[in-house]
Amino acid sequence: MSDHPLVIFTPSGKRGRFPVGTPVLTAARKLGVDLDSVCGGRGICSKCQVAPSYGDFPKHGVTVREDALSEWNAVEARYDRVRGLKKGRRLGCQATVQGDIVIDVPAESQVHRQVVRKAASDRPIVMDPATRLVFVEVEEPDMHEPSGDFERLRSALKDQWQIENVTAGLPLMRKLQPVLRKGKWQVTVALHQAQGSDAMRILDIWPGLHEGGIYGLAIDLGSTTIAAHLCDLSDG
Ligand code: FES
Repeated sequence: MSDHPLVIFTPSGKRGRFPVGTPVLTAARKLGVDLDSVCGGRGICSKCQVAPSYGDFPKHGVTVREDALSEWNAVEARYDRVRGLKKGRRLGCQATVQGDIVIDVPAESQVHRQVVRKAASDRPIVMDPATRLVFVEVEEPDMHEPSGDFERLRSALKDQWQIENVTAGLPLMRKLQPVLRKGKWQVTVALHQAQGSDAMRILDIWPGLHEGGIYGLAIDLGSTTIAAHLCDLSDG
């Protein structure tokens, strides 16, 4: 048996050789494995729990013998008696490396595990998106009544949707002419209304009826957590 057995952690796959007698927690720290510890190895927090595996591991090129870790010690026995340790688990700060070993770090022992902190609740939400899609039929240009494409789009929005006070930026103006013609004077526009304002701004335009959907992203930027919620603005 080597005096520097191989220690392989899963699911990270990190591995390294350590002197016989090295605590599993120490090996994990040296390799940068995400293994928790709150009590600093005093055997009282149980955050360092690991699940050693025994047998042949052709994938890793090792065979793990039954005595690859030190024997269950008094600290682990006391913890198991008082709080209970799941079968097959060891305390990483107590168990030491004696031979080649494969050690799984369960999700609850990982510092950076994902935690769903908030319970789901059934809360009615009233749809009132700031951006919505509107389909309009725009009049074709007429030699006898000269008017611009944007002018006719505005009056179509007014006549068909009672939407007035519409503006648009230069990028929209650039695509207006080809899109109107491609849609044979039928287009869908995305209209945005800023909170507390009457003015509507056209954000985008598509030929014909746009069926690609419209989505919004709500971002909650907290002190420790960033949560993002992708929402279909057409039906919530
Ligand atoms: S680090 Fe706290 S019990 Fe092992």
